[in-house]
Formats: sequence, C-alpha cells, structure tokens
Amino acid sequence: MKLQETHSGRPAEKPRNGAESKEGAEMKDAWVEKMIHEYATYLNEGNSGVVYRLNIAEIPQEMRAALTADEGKETPPDQAIKILKVYSAGEGKREFEMQQRAYDIASQKRDDPRFAQVPKPYLFKDIAISPETSDFLSARANGFRSTGRAEVLVMDYIPGADVATNLYREVIRRHPKTRHLAHAADELPFAQLEQEAALALDFRRPGGKGQSEGERINERLRLEFENKDKLLRFLEKKTDLQVDPAVPEQLANTIRLFHENGLTVRDFHPRNAMVVGRFAAQKGGPETAAAPQTFIIDFANAVEIETGLDDRAVVDRYIKTGDTIEGVNFVDPRTVINDLKKLAVAPAERQRAEDADLQEKLEQRRAKLDKSLASRPSRQVDAYEIKLKATLSSGRATADQMFVLLSTNPLGSDQRERLDNLLVNLMRITDAAPELKPAAAEALARLLDKTVPAEKVRLTAYLESLRRP
Ligand SMILES: Nc1ncnc2c1ncn2[C@@H]1O[C@H](COP(=O)(O)OP(=O)(O)OP(=O)(O)O)[C@@H](O)[C@H]1O
Ligand SMILES: [Mg+2]
Repeated sequence: MKLQETHSGRPAEKPRNGAESKEGAEMKDAWVEKMIHEYATYLNEGNSGVVYRLNIAEIPQEMRAALTADEGKETPPDQAIKILKVYSAGEGKREFEMQQRAYDIASQKRDDPRFAQVPKPYLFKDIAISPETSDFLSARANGFRSTGRAEVLVMDYIPGADVATNLYREVIRRHPKTRHLAHAADELPFAQLEQEAALALDFRRPGGKGQSEGERINERLRLEFENKDKLLRFLEKKTDLQVDPAVPEQLANTIRLFHENGLTVRDFHPRNAMVVGRFAAQKGGPETAAAPQTFIIDFANAVEIETGLDDRAVVDRYIKTGDTIEGVNFVDPRTVINDLKKLAVAPAERQRAEDADLQEKLEQRRAKLDKSLASRPSRQVDAYEIKLKATLSSGRATADQMFVLLSTNPLGSDQRERLDNLLVNLMRITDAAPELKPAAAEALARLLDKTVPAEKVRLTAYLESLRRP
C-alpha cells in the first residue's frame, strides 16, 4: 500500500489488515488539499518547490492523522509542506526517499551538538488537485505549473532561516546604504532582502548576450560567483560580523557523515542549509539567543553513492561531473562551508590578517618607489613630499589641507591608489624624521574622519603604527 510505504517512523495503526481502503486514501488526498487552502501559510520558495507552514495546533485531529499516521495520538511539531512546482511523476517520491535516508543518517548524531540535522520527513503524496488549488498555488509561487496533479512532501517545520537569508539580513543590518531597512531585516521576505543587498553591494546582472546557451550559462555562473564574492568580502572586511563557528562545524560534520554513509546532496548552496538559534556568534555577556542548530534541507538532487568515501573523493566522483556522461557540475558542498568558516573567524583576528596584508602591500609599493627614485629622481615626488613634510611640521595640519594633498598625490590614478601612495610618502617622511610620526598620525586621522570614513577600518593598524613612538 503506497501511502504506508512512504510514511516514515511509526507504522499506522490502521488499517488492521495491512491495506487501507481506497476511500480512506482518497479522503487523505482531499485533506492534504484542504490543508493547503485552509491551514497553510506561505513560507518560502526555491527554484523547484514552494514551502508552506502548517500550524498543527489549528488542524482538526482527524486531519492531522492524515499527515502523521499516528491517528492524532500525539501532537507533532509544526510541519512544513513542500509542493513541487513542476509535476514530474516519481521525482517527489525520490526526493522524499532521499530525505528519509538523510534523516536516518543525521539522526545517528541527534544528540551531538557538533552535527547538523535534517527535518523529519512524514509523508509524501502525489495527489490530484482541483483547478482552484492550482490557481491558489500559481498565484503565489513563481513558476508553478498546473497539471491537475501535485507532488507534496510533509516534513518538520524548521523555525529558523536559511543561510542565504541570514547573510542578506546581515548585509541589510550593516550596510550604510540600507540603514533605513536595518530594523526590519528579520521581517523582510527573501526576494526583497536579496534585491536590497544586490543594490547596496552593486551586484551585476547577466546581460544574456552570450552567443550560445552555454555562454549564457557561463556568464550567469561567473556573475553569481562575483556577486557572492562581493557579499562575503563586504561582511568579512567591512563589518564585525562573526558567524557562530558551530554553524560551519555542524554542516561540515553532517556532510561528511552523509558521505561516509553513502549519500551526497549535490545541491548544497546557502539556501539549502537552515539555522535555528543564533547565526552570529555571541559576544560575551548573558546569552541572548540559543546556540545554533543547523539543518540540511532539500534532497531533490541527492544521490546514493559508494559508502566510506571522504569529501574530496565524493566531490571528484559525484559532484564535478561536467566532463562525464552527466554533463553538468553539481554544487561543491565545501564551498558554503569554507565561506562560513572565513566569517566565523573573530573580527579582530581577521583584522590582524588584513593589517599584515596591507602592511606588506605598502612596503612593496614603497620598495618599488624607492628603487625607481634611486634610478630616476622625480622632481614631482620631491616637491610633493616637501609640501607634505612642511604641512606635518607645522603641527596643525587640517583635514582640508590633507584632502588637497590626497587629491594632488602625483602617483595614484584613483582616490584609493592616491591614498595608498600618500601612505607610502608618509612612510618615507616618518622613516627619515621619526619625530613627525605623531603629527602624521593626527593628520591622517583627520583626513579619514572627514573624507574617507570607509578607509578608516582598513587603515587602523597603519594609524596605530604611526602612533607608536
Ligand atoms: N522544513 C522547512 N521549514 C522551514 N522552512 C523551509 C523548510 N524547507 C524549506 N524551507 C525554506 O524554503 C526554501 C525553499 O525550500 P527548498 O530548498 O526545499 O526548495 P527548492 O525549490 O527545492 O530549492 P532549490 O532552489 O534549491 O531547488 C528554503 O531555502 C528554506 O528557506
Ligand atoms: Mg533549495
């Protein structure tokens, strides 16, 4: 009997003789449909499915039984119902079965806080739906195709947000251009978060001008990669966000556990991991949010694999399959994990690494300048440094004076370059006349305060070094 086979966990009490009546099954179909109309609240959607939340407490007992197969004896936690947008007989069932396998594997470490979990799958149904239900679903979900049937997966509702949503929220909370929305970051729907973050971070959109389908796909992938990089660099370099280290740790451990146990998800992007509890690390003080528990969701692309392989072997054999008969590369699960690991490094430590990079860059730039001036003196640079030194020596360089010096630096082509060169000039001057260091620090701090605040973070270590005697 189909319905029973796809139930997870406890077997149904009824039917007693191992077969449910046809009417019973149809009743349950109708209930699932009714539930979508009456008890489901739209939550979210991905490319292939639309997800609703079922508030279990509101659902009449006998209907609940259709979802959980325990005849309503126990009130299960709230559930989510995922409806595939494009009906393709068998796909939903396959996804449900893979989720069931993943759930069983992750459950081995259910009580271990170092592991992610999987929402428990309860029920899969391939049901006939009325035109009204079709309309109801198409009205909300982007790309829902009505065919008279729908594949429906019922699973635990996860009371948290996916990793992509969390990252966008952090951008909205912290970017100067979205300050007006910061207070509402937790309430905005995914599409709006994405749009606002894209605007603030100046994401590029694919132009779709590629000659072939392949070129267009490549362009899209390249831009997606660049955009993601912008987002990560912003959070990593321009903010003090620290992702709770348990987030990447749990995800990495469970992905590894899947692999060891013969399963890989192949589609592990930031929307397919969810976090309940805090996403950002707790910064001292009393606990304000529970420690994170992550979940891996969406098993539409999951496959069974040879057991006992390590992550690298799995990626080589089952994910990077672009040049094999599969013809496409799937998503390398290590990417999301590594991105999150970088953000899980404490900001002070990130800053130290950054400072060391900057120091090295400035020193290289300076060595180049010294060398070039040694072989070919420049009157322009000499004159500029004399002026800069005189301004510092006066002991009261103003922000305006410094701004003029920044803008007229002879060596840079844009403001950022000119600023780096100004620092090199300052280095040369203060090396020859260390007594000017405090004046240089003060002048630079004024310039940064008044004109280029974004640079202040980048240059704090340099400022510190000038302030040291
Ligand atoms: N059980 C759940 N509880 C709460 N929210 C969920 C649940 N399952 C999914 N979601 C939310 O809905 C979104 C879409 O779900 P899901 O990833 O399963 O859909 P999809 O269409 O298969 O995705 P993709 O675009 O990766 O193909 C998720 O990113 C997540 O934010
Ligand atoms: Mg998904």
